[in-house]
Amino acid sequence: MKYSSQAVAKPYFIFALILLAGEILFGLLMAIQYLYGDFLFPLIPFNVLRMVHTNLLIVLILFGFMGATYYLIPEEAERELWSPKLAIITFWVFAAAGVATILGYLFVPYATLTEITFNELLPTMGREFLEQPLPTKVGIVLVVVSYIVNTAMTVLLGRRTVITTVLITGLLGLAVFFLVAFYVPDNLIMDKFFWWFTVHLWVEATWELIMGAILAFVLIKVTGVDREHIDKWLYLIIAMTMVSGILGTGHHFFYMGAPEYWLWIGSISSAVEPLPFFLMILFAFTMTRERKITHDNEMALTWAKGTAVMAFLGAGVWGFIHTLAPVNMFTHGTQLTAAHGHLSFYGAYIMIIFTITSYAMPILRGRPHGNSKKAQKVELSAFWMLNIGMLGLTLALSAAGISQILDQRVGTDLVGFMESQDSIAGIYMVRAGFGLLVFTGLLTYFASFFIKEDNA
Ligand code: HEM
Ligand code: HEM
Ligand SMILES: [Fe+2]
Repeated sequence: MKYSSQAVAKPYFIFALILLAGEILFGLLMAIQYLYGDFLFPLIPFNVLRMVHTNLLIVLILFGFMGATYYLIPEEAERELWSPKLAIITFWVFAAAGVATILGYLFVPYATLTEITFNELLPTMGREFLEQPLPTKVGIVLVVVSYIVNTAMTVLLGRRTVITTVLITGLLGLAVFFLVAFYVPDNLIMDKFFWWFTVHLWVEATWELIMGAILAFVLIKVTGVDREHIDKWLYLIIAMTMVSGILGTGHHFFYMGAPEYWLWIGSISSAVEPLPFFLMILFAFTMTRERKITHDNEMALTWAKGTAVMAFLGAGVWGFIHTLAPVNMFTHGTQLTAAHGHLSFYGAYIMIIFTITSYAMPILRGRPHGNSKKAQKVELSAFWMLNIGMLGLTLALSAAGISQILDQRVGTDLVGFMESQDSIAGIYMVRAGFGLLVFTGLLTYFASFFIKEDNA
């Protein structure tokens, strides 16, 4: 570790991984409820499990981004973090607020939660991913502001690079589009517009910048390729992201009461969205081919290449499948959407966190050459279990989605929702199986951290 303040990243990485274990566990509980409807009844209903699953996902990604930033910013800016103390305080505030919110979801009926958290004052609750009570939302704003100030001050007082500029632009976007979550119009169509301004412009615009910056940082470190070369790729990727991703929001405005021109704008713009993800694959593999050094931490590069490939599959391929208006008319809101949601979130944002964690954690733990060969072997098996598990889960959900579409939306001989669901129970069993593989992969990843040094 070059700068001692980089150490503040460690609790962020560890906590993100703990939350990930929780997220996957709740996913598994839901997968069981899909098979046995009264599992855990009436202790934890499906909607609560779902809310915990998706909220843990968002919060763990934010923790991961913060850990990544606090690790890479001092090295990029070539100076200590502006305020390591603020970063530590922010960690505890965010962790406490996160845990309290999850406990609230689990132990307080949601309707009661809205009453005791002042939702009447400014109604913001009840929308997917943004279910957090008002005090939690305000807390998130404060935490993100402190995060941005700390990052920006460090860069302003130090060296500015393309990576820091892209990262800070992404962070500002993340903050601005979260503010939109405080405005909930009464009109349901307008409500959807604003909801997507947060959700879509996070995952398909601003977070993509953050992902690109982290990926570029790790690639510089493990391949030794010149920064100028890396910068050109990064510019190209973020330009393509912005060109396609912003108007691409239109792919959520089909047939929902919005003007018809969105059918065209949404279809055409979002059809270009896979391009930046494809560029990330070219970027990672070209840098690997042109590398000047072979870093002992081979797993960091494996994760970097892996995230480029899986993000392209999940966001690019599975996103494109249902992004054209005439197709989306049939696929909207089916298990095909869930298939895409899983592989894209995992491939882009969970894997980029694995990438930076696998690169930085050994260094933070006093192993500048990465974990031992034996530990990396175990980590490689975790890599495959996680990827095969998520891919299997996605394929199962895609099969479920296609079956659902044929049953309910194509032709004239249609069946009802529950009847269709009944006929795909077998596929849900397969999904649960792959989910278990994902969880085993995560535990194996954890285990790789505890393997002793070769010669110790
Ligand atoms: C890493 C980037 C991405 C993530 C994390 C992501 C995630 C998601 C999630 C979770 C949903 C479901 C939201 C809901 O209704 O609850 C969704 C919907 C959708 N995504 Fe993505 N996505 C990404 C990139 C893309 C890309 C690049 C495309 C197009 C090429 C795309 C096309 C769509 C479409 C069309 C829908 C609406 C599906 C429907 O109508 O049911 N996504 N995305
Ligand atoms: C890191 C891995 C995971 C990520 C990133 C993730 C992400 C998500 C997302 C974004 C949604 C909302 C999807 C939508 O509305 O379209 C969701 C829902 C769900 N997830 Fe996961 N998930 C993961 C792992 C798992 C696992 C291992 C399982 C269990 C096998 C699982 C089971 C579920 C279920 C059952 C739902 C609810 C779908 C519904 O409402 O019908 N997830 N997950
Ligand atoms: Fe989108």
